[in-house]
Amino acid sequence: MILDELKNRFIDIYGECGEEIRFFSSPGRVNLIGEHTDYNGGYVFPVAVDLSTIVAARKRNDRQINLAATDLDIRVKASLDELDRYKNLDWGHYQLGVADELLKAGYDLIGCDLLYHGTIPYGAGLSSSASIEVATALTLATFANEAKGINTCVDLVEMAKIGQRAENNYVGVNCGIMDQFASAMGKKDHAIFLNCRDLSFKHVPLHMKGYKIVISNTNKKRSLGASKYNERRSECEKGFEILHEKIPEATCLGEISYEQFNEYKHLIENKTIRNRVEHVISEDDRVLKSVKALNNGNIEEFGRLMIESHNSLRDLYEVTGNELDTLVEEALKIDGVAGSRMTGAGFGGCTVSIVRDDVVDEFKEKVGKNYYERIGLNATFYVCEAGDGAREIGK
Ligand code: GLA
Repeated sequence: MILDELKNRFIDIYGECGEEIRFFSSPGRVNLIGEHTDYNGGYVFPVAVDLSTIVAARKRNDRQINLAATDLDIRVKASLDELDRYKNLDWGHYQLGVADELLKAGYDLIGCDLLYHGTIPYGAGLSSSASIEVATALTLATFANEAKGINTCVDLVEMAKIGQRAENNYVGVNCGIMDQFASAMGKKDHAIFLNCRDLSFKHVPLHMKGYKIVISNTNKKRSLGASKYNERRSECEKGFEILHEKIPEATCLGEISYEQFNEYKHLIENKTIRNRVEHVISEDDRVLKSVKALNNGNIEEFGRLMIESHNSLRDLYEVTGNELDTLVEEALKIDGVAGSRMTGAGFGGCTVSIVRDDVVDEFKEKVGKNYYERIGLNATFYVCEAGDGAREIGK
């Protein structure tokens, strides 16, 4: 939807007044490698995709936040003075959680009318929720700063943290920082090599000449909150506690090396917990090797690491499931696919594959057909470009 159309929809819903209508946007992400490492202080390697949430926004001179979306009939009217009341909304709680966290962080928010338009499929594991959070945070913080006469740019890393806190504290999902960070800080044609321990990061050029990033959606609906996400996180914490007794200088699993893990793994008696920890520590290692491989333009090695990552998520972390495994298996049957793995939290959602340009059409056709025959669902495919992160895109 182009901005003019969105503006007309906005006026249909909220009417006209003298105040300007502005547009902010924030993308979804696909993680190339480094899964379930972020909340363990490890490394991740996501890309902001060219699918996004756009917010059309207009300031109000009261303390009311109005929310609407182009694809939903729901309208939400919320007061900035009663933000505790909206935690159980079916839609709108991500945005109001962000408002709550911005207030706690000291932003003097003002009321506004907001209309959301998204091109990221909901619940597909491409971070539609993080993109809503970051787009909302950028909009509300920009309006608050302007109302106070502050002209400096909004700090996007801070907006990513606000988004994560909204999801942790308001929505109740104990997610890490990866999705919000990628949405806030993406860069065209680059991946983000992020150290989740201290948020130091590098934009790494996607040296993938002759290859495309193809996202395949299982179209099995999943919801992070309902999934075993929080359970995995607490299993990691238990594993860390045990290793920490022997390695007191480590503050998180991300600071424990594979050698240290091998030395002390026998102390983790529960096999499930040992497996979870092994995934995290080996995955961290794979991210470092992947960044090196990509820097050297070694797509084969990069693909091999992606496959190892998927196997570890399937066998040790147990977050894949039949749909994701089938998509990966079918992808790897195609000559010209360098690598394929699940991406995001798992339990449904999407896979990411590195596919040689000349076999992209064959990939979609054969993987789609075989997936349907085996699972009975139609997969959807997106050939994705790495895009820019959150920003104001027009007035
Ligand atoms: C979800 C969470 C992220 C991250 C991934 C798994 O996308 O929001 O913080 O933990 O799962 O890597």
